[in-house]
Order: sequence, then structure tokens, then C-alpha cells
Amino acid sequence: MKDRLSFRGRWVLVTGASSGLGEEMAVQLAAEYGANLILVARRAERLSELAAKLEKAHGVHCKVIAADLSRLEDVRRVFHKATSEHEIHAVVLNAGITHFGKHQDLSWERFETLLQTNLIGVVWLVNNFVHYFAGKDIDGAIMLVSSMAGVMPVPYQAAYAGSKAFLTNFGQSLSEELRGEPVSITVFSPGGIATPMAHESDLRYFENTPFLQDVTSCAAEGLSAMAARRRFHVPGRLNRLQMFLSRFVPRGFSVALTAATYRKALKAAGQ
Ligand SMILES: NC(=O)c1ccc[n+]([C@@H]2O[C@H](COP(=O)([O-])OP(=O)(O)OC[C@H]3O[C@@H](n4cnc5c(N)ncnc54)[C@H](OP(=O)(O)O)[C@@H]3O)[C@@H](O)[C@H]2O)c1
Repeated sequence: MKDRLSFRGRWVLVTGASSGLGEEMAVQLAAEYGANLILVARRAERLSELAAKLEKAHGVHCKVIAADLSRLEDVRRVFHKATSEHEIHAVVLNAGITHFGKHQDLSWERFETLLQTNLIGVVWLVNNFVHYFAGKDIDGAIMLVSSMAGVMPVPYQAAYAGSKAFLTNFGQSLSEELRGEPVSITVFSPGGIATPMAHESDLRYFENTPFLQDVTSCAAEGLSAMAARRRFHVPGRLNRLQMFLSRFVPRGFSVALTAATYRKALKAAGQ
């Protein structure tokens, strides 16, 4: 089993590549790693534009699969299309959605869509790609884009934090089960990132604070962790410091502090 993976001339599948972190990881995979890309999201036009741009600028090959990953039939179609047409060497499971506000105000439909997108589709793809890599004996990598919200509870993002806590524990547990096998799992857990997810929410409150990491450095750290087959990585020094310090603070206190910060932010957003 190789210690460090090379993606040059190899196919890497990226979900949620039409925006934010996924788009930036696709750009860096083409520019820095020379990878061919399968770009997945709902907004096909944005994916096609990105594919054309990356092919022209970096001489890589790109394919687009438009899919709604909250629907299991689309998730299955993505897997079958990608694996029947190309040999895949890495999978970046990045697509995700969030919500801000009181959990009791979240409709069941939105909650269900969040779980389908952030969890069910992701776990289905992990299960199937683990078998795929084992069957082909490929040195492969899977990145699960989780969040620091998957390690520390976040009131007013309760369903999101819960979905990411599942991903974090699932991914880290599975990565230990797969020790010594050709496929590695990297749980990547950013704090806040300056992407549309943060900007298009009503929570402008966090915008001009050091809490939002720039998307370029965040993506670079994630890809480097995946290539190095790290099992867990939190990008950004400030985030790592926060994680470290949280060990010495009673959990109840840090949850209450987060809740107070979000209450202010929600109030500022008129919620
Ligand atoms: N921004 C943050 O502060 C932050 C912090 C920690 C972790 N993260 C995680 O980072 C990941 C990327 O988030 P981001 O900040 O880059 O958000 P973003 O800019 O909103 O991008 C989300 C991506 O997910 C795709 N997506 C959402 N629902 C989908 C669906 N049903 N089917 C297919 N694709 C879907 C979107 O594409 P379409 O709309 O075109 O389908 C888009 O490409 C998420 O997993 C998020 O939880 C974000």
C-alpha cells in the first residue's frame, strides 16, 4: 500500500463541484495534481463551464454528471456511470447542505433532504466505493467532507451538526477497519469557510471574523490530507487551536457559549 497517492492522469470524482469548497478542490485537483475529474452536482451548466475551463487551462479530461444526491436513484446512477466509464482512484464526497435557526422551525421535508444529502447518499457511495476499490485492488482514497460541527455540538444548526457527527464517527471508525487495505478514508472537518454556504445564509454576523477560513487554503489542506491518507484533518491553525482548547473546557460551557453566539447572529439576521 502506497503512503502517498498521486492523482496525475487518474480519475477523481468530486461531488458538490458546482460551488464553494468542491469547486475549489476540483480546480486544485486539475491544476496542482493533474487529475482527470468527474464533476457532480445539480447545476449542470456550472459544472460544464468549470469542466471546459479546467480542460483548457490544465489539459486534463473532465466529465459532468448532473445529479440530485438527495435522491438515492441519482446516487446509484452517479456510481454506475462513473465506474462503468472510468477507473476511479479517489472520491471527494463534499456535497452538503445546512440550515440555521431553531430545530423546531425546520420542516420535516428540509430535515429529510438534509439527511438524504449529507448522510444517506454519502454512506451509500462510501459502501460501494470501498467494495469497488477492494475488487480492483486500486490504491484509492475517499474523502468525507464533515465539519467541526461534527465534533462540537452547534445549537441552531442541530440537524446539520448531527449529520456531520455521524459522518465523523462513521468515517473514523471505518478508516480503522480498513487499516492496511488499499483504500483509505479521510474525514476532513473544516470550521467556517468563506463559501456561498456561509455567505448566502442569513448569518452575515460571522462574515468579517477570523472564524471563516479562505476556501483556497481549506481545499489545499483537504487534498493534501487525502493524498497523504490521513484519517482525520481539521484545516486552519485557529480551528486546530479551538479543537485543542475545547478539551479543557466543560462541554456544557462550550455548547452554551456557541448557543449565545448564534443567538446574537440570528437576532442580527432578524430571526
Ligand atoms: N461553508 C462552511 O462554513 C463549511 C464548514 C464546514 C464544512 N462545510 C462542508 O463543506 C461542504 C461544501 O460546502 P460549501 O461551503 O462549499 O457549500 P456550497 O458553496 O453551498 O456548496 C455546496 C455544494 O453541494 C452541492 N449540493 C447541495 N445539495 C446537493 C444535492 N442535493 N445534490 C447534488 N449536489 C448538491 C451544491 O451543488 P448544486 O446546488 O449545484 O447541486 C454545491 O456544489 C459541505 O459538505 C459542507 O457541509 C462547509
